[in-house]
Amino acid sequence: MSTTILIGAQWGDEGKGKIIDVLTERVDWVVRAQGGNNAGHTVEVGEERFVLHLVPSGILHEGKRCVIGNGVVLDPVALVEEIQGVAARGFPVEGRLFISDRAHVVFPYHRMLDAQGEARRAKGDQIGTTQRGIGPAYSDKAARFGLRMADLVDPEFPALLKARVEEKNRALAALGAPVADYDDVLAAVQQAMETLRPLVCDTVPLLHAAVRAGEHILFEGAQGILLDIDFGTYPFVTSSNAGSGGASTGSGVPPNRMDRVVGVLKAYTTRVGEGPFPTELHDADGEELRRVGREFGATTGRPRRCGWFDAVVARHAVMTCGVDEWALTKLDVLDGFETLKICTAYELDGRRIEHFPANVREVARCRPVYEEWPGWRTSTRGAARFDDLPDAARRYIARLEDVTGAPAGILSLGPRRADTLFREMPR
Ligand code: GDP
Ligand code: IMO
Ligand code: MG
Repeated sequence: MSTTILIGAQWGDEGKGKIIDVLTERVDWVVRAQGGNNAGHTVEVGEERFVLHLVPSGILHEGKRCVIGNGVVLDPVALVEEIQGVAARGFPVEGRLFISDRAHVVFPYHRMLDAQGEARRAKGDQIGTTQRGIGPAYSDKAARFGLRMADLVDPEFPALLKARVEEKNRALAALGAPVADYDDVLAAVQQAMETLRPLVCDTVPLLHAAVRAGEHILFEGAQGILLDIDFGTYPFVTSSNAGSGGASTGSGVPPNRMDRVVGVLKAYTTRVGEGPFPTELHDADGEELRRVGREFGATTGRPRRCGWFDAVVARHAVMTCGVDEWALTKLDVLDGFETLKICTAYELDGRRIEHFPANVREVARCRPVYEEWPGWRTSTRGAARFDDLPDAARRYIARLEDVTGAPAGILSLGPRRADTLFREMPR
């Protein structure tokens, strides 16, 4: 299997960073193809904990090469900070990180507009964005007003930027908001480009050559399918295609060169930010999931909303992303629960439904249909094989496979590399 797409199968924070890290050993390239520094991917290596936002998580494996593809929106100043951070901790990026010249750039005015957009929405309509300027940057891309990395290395860049700052400042001033200072923006970007310039290239031929040579490529999805701009809980979503399709459009590796899709699936559900969440818990069980699972945002530090496992969500991921197998994470977080619930369908206005509705107001009215499963009340940490897991845990996993229609090939029982079980999967 030479190209694997890894996606988040819920609302993000499924443990993608950890799974990417354990799979990186087997690949040559790790590629980000969408999102920006709204992502926060945690990787624990020995006693150290890294949170990566824009730099692909593969950077923590010596010798592996990483690509920030055309589908990503990147904040050059934030990226340089991150590059310096990982370099200072022993992972220099030179010769290993390649940035697409087609990737769009996030400027300070995008962040300012993100904040304004949120502040001006009525209560209940706010998205709870990460305020990283992601939505406004993708809006400019779609409006054909954005600037790309190729523009930043062009001698005309100062003039191109000036026209944008003037236009955006008119919009900000009309809102009565503070405006961006052209000279400051230019200086900050030019300084960042001293680091980034040597890393910018056309990544399409690079990846094409890798595919032709039979090298292994792993696509590191950001966010999750329920935050996807098309298949998520619109409008409470991010502004990119977080599903498997985004890997192709965001990298230039065509769909017929993709071999396998791994869906990262938490053994329960979390969401950070606003928007409907049918299995959300507001009780002691929800508190316990947050406490044991340490469910606080890796990017913003916000507490994550927690709830039971939702098979309607997982089946939505299977259908829209073509999930071949799950990497089932955070099973250990369920170790102490006496009873576990699995949502197998929803009840909407008195009807039973099996599929995730498009209408966000309907999603908000969906009531989960639960079945109950006994917990195992014992630690799963340290299990070396699937068969070492307690019976009740194996039955819970088997039921998740049944109700979602995809097998769990990878099981994660803790944040570290060693806390991972691989099962032989039919390929
Ligand atoms: P991502 O955005 O999908 O990469 O996920 P985050 O890094 O935002 O959040 C996942 C959190 O769970 C991180 O703190 C990980 O270190 C942690 N984690 C990942 N897998 C496991 C696991 O199997 N068990 C436990 N207890 N923690 C895990
Ligand atoms: P990773 O890759 C969880 C959420 C925000 C908000 C919505 C829109 O770590 O899984 P945005 O800033 O993108 O315009 O915010 O999407 N969100 C995430 N939630 N994990 C993420 O990334 C997220 N990236 C964005 O909380 O609800
Ligand atoms: Mg995260």
